[in-house]
Amino acid sequence: MDVFVEIIPETHARQLRVIVDNRETRLHALWLRERSPDAETLDPRTGQRLIEAAALPLDLALVEASCRGDRIHLAFSDGHHADFALGDLVPASSDVIHEHWDASLAELPSADFERALEDDGALAAMLESLERYGFVKVRGVPLTLDGMMPLVERLGPLRRTNWGGIADVKSIADAYDLTMTQRGLEPHTDNPYRDPIPGYIWLHCLSNADSGGDSTLADGFMAAERLRRQDPDAFDCLTRISTRFRYVDDSAHLVSEGPLIELDSRGEVVRVRYNNRTERIPPLPPEQLERYYAARRAFFALITDPELTLTPKLAPGEMLIMDNYRLLHGRTAFRLSQGVRHLRQGYVDRDTTASRRLILRRQPSIHQPDAPSSSLQESA
Ligand code: OGA
Ligand code: ZN
Repeated sequence: MDVFVEIIPETHARQLRVIVDNRETRLHALWLRERSPDAETLDPRTGQRLIEAAALPLDLALVEASCRGDRIHLAFSDGHHADFALGDLVPASSDVIHEHWDASLAELPSADFERALEDDGALAAMLESLERYGFVKVRGVPLTLDGMMPLVERLGPLRRTNWGGIADVKSIADAYDLTMTQRGLEPHTDNPYRDPIPGYIWLHCLSNADSGGDSTLADGFMAAERLRRQDPDAFDCLTRISTRFRYVDDSAHLVSEGPLIELDSRGEVVRVRYNNRTERIPPLPPEQLERYYAARRAFFALITDPELTLTPKLAPGEMLIMDNYRLLHGRTAFRLSQGVRHLRQGYVDRDTTASRRLILRRQPSIHQPDAPSSSLQESA
C-alpha cells in the first residue's frame, strides 16, 4: 500500500490531502480535530465525544502532517497532536454498495432459514444481500402462523402496528384493505401513511393460489436513476413535491407526507414511496399538479416496465424480506376455485437490522463482502 499525506497550503492549511494507492481523499482540519483518538477528545470507554466540537476555532489549521506505515500523525494550530489509524480516515472498500438490478438479475439473492438462525456467517450473508439488492428470498420457513418469528428475533423487535404484530395477507369477505381481496396489487411500497414508515417487510407464504398470486419486484433505486437520466425534469419534480398518504378505518386515521423520490444532501436516492391506493396529494396549485401528474406517470411506467420487474412466485415455506425504502413490490391477481392463498406479513425496523449486520461484520471469522461483480450497477 502506497500512502502519501500533505497539508494543502492553498486552503490556509485547513485541509489535508491523503493519497492511498493513487486514490485521493481531502479532509478538513476540524473534521480531523473533532475525532482525534485520544482520551481528552473522545471518552476511551464509549468512544463518545468529550470536547464541544462546535466551540473549536473555525480557523483551526494543520501545522504538521506525517505518516508512518498505516499511522498518520497530525499537529493542529490549537497545540493539539493526534495519531490516527489510516483506516479510520479513508473509507474501506468493503462498504456495501447498492447493486441496482433489473429483470435480467440472474439469480435471486437467497438464504436458508435454519442456517441463518443457527449460523452467524449465514445470517451475515443474508443481511449483506438484503443491503446490496434490497431483498432476499428465504427458504425453509416453518409453516406455522408465526414461523418467521425466531429469525425476526435475531435482528430486533417486530414492529407492532394497528394491525398487530405478524398479520394475515389473505382474501376475506369484508376486506378493510385492498390487500385482503383477490385483486392484483400494483407495485407499491407498504404503508407510506405511517411515521416512521416500516423499514423492512417480511412476507411469508403459507399457501399460494393455484393460478396467479405471483409476486412482482422492482428496484426503486434503479427506476429512479433511469428517470433521472431519461427525464430529469420529472425526476426533479418527484424529489421536490411532497405528496400525502392516508389510511382510514374505524379505529385508525394515519397520515404522512413525503416525496415519491427522496434524496439525501448529496443528491443520492435514499427512499422511494409509491402507493396508489392510499396516495392523496393536497390541492397544490394546478400548475404544480400538472407537472407532478406527468412525472408520476413517467415513474409509474418505469416501475411497471417488465424489463425492470422480477416475478417470482412464493411457494409455501418461502419468504421475501424486502427493503421498504427501496423496493416496489406487488402481486398479480388470483382466483381461488379451491384452497386459500395465505401469506403472513411482519415489519422490522431499519436501525436494528443494520445494527445486527454491522455487529456481525466485527466478527473476524465472518467473510467480509467484496466489491460487486455484476455489471448491473447503474448509480451515477
Ligand atoms: C401487501 C402485499 C403481497 C401479496 O399486502 O401489501 O404487498 O403477495 N401483498 O399478497
Ligand atoms: Zn405490500
